[in-house]
Amino acid sequence: AGKERVSWVCGQCGATSGQWWGTCPACQKVGTVKRFAEAAEVGGSRGAEVSEEKVRLWLPQRAGGAVPQSLEEVNKGRNQTEWRIQLSGLFGMEVARVLGGGVVPGSLVLVGGDPGVGKSTLLLQLAAIISQGNNFSAPAPVIYVSGEESIEQIGNRADRMRIASADLFLYSSTDIEDILDKIQAFSPQALIVDSIQTVYLKGITGSAGNIMQVKECTSALLRFAKQTNIPVFLIGHVTKSGDIAGPRMLEHIVDAVLYLEGERYSSYRLLRSVKNRFGSTDELGVFEMSESGLEAVANPSEIFLTEQYSDSEILAGLAVAVIVDGSRTFVIEIQALCASGSSPIRHVEGVRDGRANMIIAVLMKQAGLKLQDSAIFLNVVSGFKITETAGDLAIAAAICSSFLELAIPHDVAFIGEIGLGGELRAVSRMDKRVIAVAKLGYKKCVIPKTAEKSIAGLNLDMTILGCRTVKEVINIIF
Ligand code: TYD
Ligand code: MG
Repeated sequence: AGKERVSWVCGQCGATSGQWWGTCPACQKVGTVKRFAEAAEVGGSRGAEVSEEKVRLWLPQRAGGAVPQSLEEVNKGRNQTEWRIQLSGLFGMEVARVLGGGVVPGSLVLVGGDPGVGKSTLLLQLAAIISQGNNFSAPAPVIYVSGEESIEQIGNRADRMRIASADLFLYSSTDIEDILDKIQAFSPQALIVDSIQTVYLKGITGSAGNIMQVKECTSALLRFAKQTNIPVFLIGHVTKSGDIAGPRMLEHIVDAVLYLEGERYSSYRLLRSVKNRFGSTDELGVFEMSESGLEAVANPSEIFLTEQYSDSEILAGLAVAVIVDGSRTFVIEIQALCASGSSPIRHVEGVRDGRANMIIAVLMKQAGLKLQDSAIFLNVVSGFKITETAGDLAIAAAICSSFLELAIPHDVAFIGEIGLGGELRAVSRMDKRVIAVAKLGYKKCVIPKTAEKSIAGLNLDMTILGCRTVKEVINIIF
């Protein structure tokens, strides 16, 4: 979006001023100064009078602000891309893709994740990028408000990340009214609030982080975003074991919810959209945490593989799956460890428990593996979470490999869903998946027999092994 011309006008005496005043400096009337915005490129459709009443923000939005507009007028001269704040650079483009193509003015976006995963880092970088402007928009102020750190601490962090922007403003506060009051004069291009657990609204019972505060503060920020058309990014910590005042409760209030995921021992971070009023929730951003913040990973397909082993040192219990997430394809290593003689516990990381249990049951019942006395550990490399069934076959293969103590050759990949009868089922995007593994140099790919026809036209430098059942796969591989 281009820059809009903003002025503050007293509804009583008509005096115009460059900033908002609680009391009109000319006629001394209280609460009469209103914001007027003229947006050059949208034919004035955004130029409607916007009420800037900040006091009692938690009350329902009052009438008298915007007026109904015809659809035609709203859409005049505006298309999907112009309507969003574009983000440039590799990092910016990665975030933009997850957001559905850029930042939507007036949207409230919740960014959740475990403490320490990198939420503050992500949003400080994003704030800098928005403030610096690009080919589509001029540099404009962005305000990063933290209730967690002092501005010196944030400044330090920005320095370490080599962020330099004349238009990035830092503010440390936990009082929502104070925050919205202070940022008013800047007419920022975006507002970041770090975090929802540290801010509070006067007049609401309970201290910051309590369920009512979290809810009401979020609602106040939502109204602020809608009234001013300023996009607001809100950070929320997700705490383990169902913290009710956590971001999950807020998902229905906000416009979009992004989760930043990653494992402590891995430097990769995934930004996933789980709700998006303005785009698909099918997108995934891949980043790597470095010395100087998060870097977009341009070609993420192989980051979830452990080091390459030579054939003589490959371990039993490793199998490679091909997962499609958003518009990305990931070739991922699954690790299994079956230890017999110990207590038959199951420990699963990165695969849904129910799915893992089902695969184990099918291996016992349909393939005759005597897993009942084994402890089984399953792990997906680098903290990736597999949500689709296309990984079933690789999970089964990894378990078999460990149980039989026979390594799977390192040039074999597995794609396919497993049914309760031990039958292999085709999954979506077969062509995309086999192309991805072939590209990485795999020589053999085991797929469901029924999926063979869907990739028949492809010219692959790889042998396709079509199988009907899990048992058949075991016979071919081991
Ligand atoms: P942070 O953004 O503070 O996490 P959150 O806001 O989600 O709690 O970042 C957490 C970790 O990231 C911190 O332990 C240090 C590390 N880090 C880097 O590795 N590189 C960097 O450039 C920065 C700023 C942080
Ligand atoms: Mg933080």
